Amino acid sequence: MMDHFVVEGGRPLSGTITCSGAKNAALPLMAASLLTDGVTVLNNIPDLQDVRTMAMVLRVIGADVRIEEGTLTIDCSHCNFWEAPYELVRKMRASFYVLGPLIARFGEAKVSLPGGCALGPRPVDLHLKAMKRLGCDIYIESGYVNVKAKSLKGTRINMDVSSVGATGNLMMAACAATGTTVINNSACEPEIIDLANMLNAMGADINGAGSKQVEINGPVDLKPVKWKVIPDRIEAGTFLLAAAVTRGKVTLKECRADLMYTVLDKINETGVNIQIDNDSVTIDARDVKPCATDVITEAYPGFPTDLQAPWTVFMSLAKGDSILTETIYPERFTHVPELIRLGAQFRKKLNSIYIEGVERFTGASVMCSDIRAAAALVIATLAAEGTSKVLRVYHLDRGYDRMEDKLSKLGAKIRRIRE
Ligand code: UD1
Repeated sequence: MMDHFVVEGGRPLSGTITCSGAKNAALPLMAASLLTDGVTVLNNIPDLQDVRTMAMVLRVIGADVRIEEGTLTIDCSHCNFWEAPYELVRKMRASFYVLGPLIARFGEAKVSLPGGCALGPRPVDLHLKAMKRLGCDIYIESGYVNVKAKSLKGTRINMDVSSVGATGNLMMAACAATGTTVINNSACEPEIIDLANMLNAMGADINGAGSKQVEINGPVDLKPVKWKVIPDRIEAGTFLLAAAVTRGKVTLKECRADLMYTVLDKINETGVNIQIDNDSVTIDARDVKPCATDVITEAYPGFPTDLQAPWTVFMSLAKGDSILTETIYPERFTHVPELIRLGAQFRKKLNSIYIEGVERFTGASVMCSDIRAAAALVIATLAAEGTSKVLRVYHLDRGYDRMEDKLSKLGAKIRRIRE
């Protein structure tokens, strides 16, 4: 489906919406259900294409998966196949999350290598190195990673780079390893903490999740649980920036401010007001001309790379010039030439872009190339004067829960044209 949006921009967003569950937590939690031979129930599941893709991956493995209004019921009692096919993995790299659980449950796995990505190179070498250290034999043939593990043994594993996916995969595999596995330089992202918390509720013995060193004791027998996915801090950040670029006032409910202080502080630094009350966050950008502020993307708790593209939109319409440096995916700039079509002014040098604040954007047709670039283009067109078309919104549908409905609720004029 090549749906597109027609957006009539130049209207400040105003009102209240509720945040959805986090995509990047839901996907590994779904994979974790494979570690048991019972029925896992996940609540607060966002309505996303990536969730449906992961459901298909689990079904190939033999799981019975039901999706009903934000609840996923995953019955893994009949899983008997340890393969994740190219047709699904190439659509969504996070399918690779089944590797760890398959190794833990069957001692065997055959998972397609993900291949290329619009964000630039995204290798899986750290995942494979970690599984080898646990005692797996690995060979790559015909585009597939084949893994056999006679026995898994806990050990010390140093991650050269902090990787969300490799940390999650290893945590899941290590639950089946004998002895203690120590992950050094583990990813500290909140979604990793959510995974560790769910695994512990299932009977795992994991300590230190959220810090640079995680310890897993095994082997353990895991039981299925009912679990509620944490709110999506990236979706929340995207809506805050949408409010900021349209100079509106928006309240987000069920928003975990404590998971996004870096982003909230950065927005505050520009002169835009942020107010935090219990589980809600309000941004008020009315009558403010935000000041340009530099940003460097970093692993959590740094500024998230997943908000880099929306942030460039914000800075393009701010007062003054700023520099944005991308340290996680140095080539993640496919939104830049599209934003130039709306009137943005950029100079790119290595992994940085120099952003010149402009007075206004004017509507144009733009094309999405990945989930967050798509979000950036949508919020840019909301700020642009006149009518815009946003093409290839299937990228947006992968990662945002009915974004156009939420934006409409805030007063945006955005229409989906089905093709
Ligand atoms: C996750 C998120 C994605 C986010 C990214 C970085 C999910 C489903 N996706 O992706 O939205 O943009 O974290 O916050 O949670 N690397 C290697 N070798 C590896 C693995 C990673 O060199 O084997 C590098 C990557 O190229 C990148 C860095 O490590 O430079 C971080 O990537 P990683 O944290 O693994 O990202 P993902 O888990 O794929």
